[in-house]
This record gives sequence, C-alpha cells and structure tokens, in this order.
Amino acid sequence: ARPTKCVVAVDGPSGSGKSTVSRRLASAVDGVYLDTGAMYRAVTWAVLQAGVELADQDAIAKIVLETELSIGTDPTAPHFAANGTNVDAPIRGPEVTGAVSAVAAVPAVRKHLVALQQAIITSHPRIIVEGRDIASVVAPDADLKVYLTASAAARAARRSAEDATEVAATEADLARRDKLDSTRATDPLRQASDAIEVDTTGMGIDEVVQHLLSLLDSKVSK
Ligand code: DC
Repeated sequence: ARPTKCVVAVDGPSGSGKSTVSRRLASAVDGVYLDTGAMYRAVTWAVLQAGVELADQDAIAKIVLETELSIGTDPTAPHFAANGTNVDAPIRGPEVTGAVSAVAAVPAVRKHLVALQQAIITSHPRIIVEGRDIASVVAPDADLKVYLTASAAARAARRSAEDATEVAATEADLARRDKLDSTRATDPLRQASDAIEVDTTGMGIDEVVQHLLSLLDSKVSK
C-alpha cells in the first residue's frame, strides 16, 4: 500500500488524535512525519528562554528568526532541538503549552515556520504533515487533506490520558487554546473547503488509520 509520492495534510483541533494517527499513517506508507505544532512549541520554548514579553510581537519574531531548529521527521522518534538543546520534554510542558498560542499568532513567526515546513515537504517524497493550516496555507496541493475532529469530551479524555492531568482542567484548557487558535487574524484553524472531515469520536486508532489509508489509496497512484 505504498504510493511513490504523497503529501497528506492532517489538520484539526487539539486532542483530535492528529499526532498518533499521522505517525501511524507515515509508518504505513514508509514516509516521514512533520509535526508543525512541535515547531511552534520549539520556538515558543526559545522565546521563553529569552525572557521576552509575550505581548511584544517584534521581540518574539526576532528571537524566532534567530532560533536554530533541528526538526525530526522519523515517525517513530520525531526528536526536536532548539539552539542545540533537545526540547522533546519541555515543549510538552505547561509553560510552553500556555504560551504557544500567543507565539503562533505572530504573523512573522508563521511566515518563517511555513517556509521551513514547505522546504521539508519538498524534500521528502512521502510525508504526512499535521497542524492547523496545512491544507489551507502550507500545502494547498496536498494529495489528501483530512480534517480530524472529535467531541470536546473525547478530546479532553485523550489528552488527559496522555499527560495525567484532570479531565475537566484539560477540557477547559483545550477550549481556551481552540478559541485562540481559531480566532487569530493570521491563518486561523479552520477546515479547508476541500478537506475531508473525519470525526474520530468513538473510533479506535487502527480504524482511523485504515480509513485514511483507503482515502489515500483512492487519491494517489502507486
Ligand atoms: O498541535 P499542538 O497542540 O502541538 O500545537 C501547538 C500550538 O501551535 C497550537 O496551540 C496551535 C499552534 N499551531 C499553529 O498555529 N499552526 C500549526 N500548523 C500547528 C500548530
């Protein structure tokens, strides 16, 4: 089931299952995986390290443009480093999670990271890219565009199983971030008109991956 070439865009809100599904799909087609959310998180880590005010968009942009990112695309071990420091753990921590929406809302930050993302996509024949604006902005020519959703309760339950926080607190935090991410002026989270919506509430991971593989099969030639 391996296409010679494919770009798959996987967008959707936090906790919709994007990461797990995208990694599994990448392995299934013997391709690579690009976690664009981790890129926004890694530069947010650098911004916090620099001690910049989150309201100072110019200062944020300056730090982000100076940050040297190492972006792992192995679907089984996608390691990230910023300025030579491995950031796999801190980019999942509460400080970065709390600040990332503000950093991701800065237009110059998005412009810079989108250009990096497009360069990575161009250099890999088979790539699964997950994020918020992949189908609409980063890879409008993707072979397959899926928009993963799940009920707020299902998303919060999955996220709190991952990070062992309380479901109610997680649900509130997801709602806060979704609101920031979908109402920002530059490239907000929204479903592209040609993306296929897949509601994963009540679906198992294998089921979602199989479904996406069959969608991909109908879109690309082997
Ligand atoms: O998917 P995630 O939770 O790791 O994403 C972290 C943040 O980055 C999220 O709040 C929205 C932002 N993001 C974005 O604005 N555009 C993307 N393509 C991916 C993530």
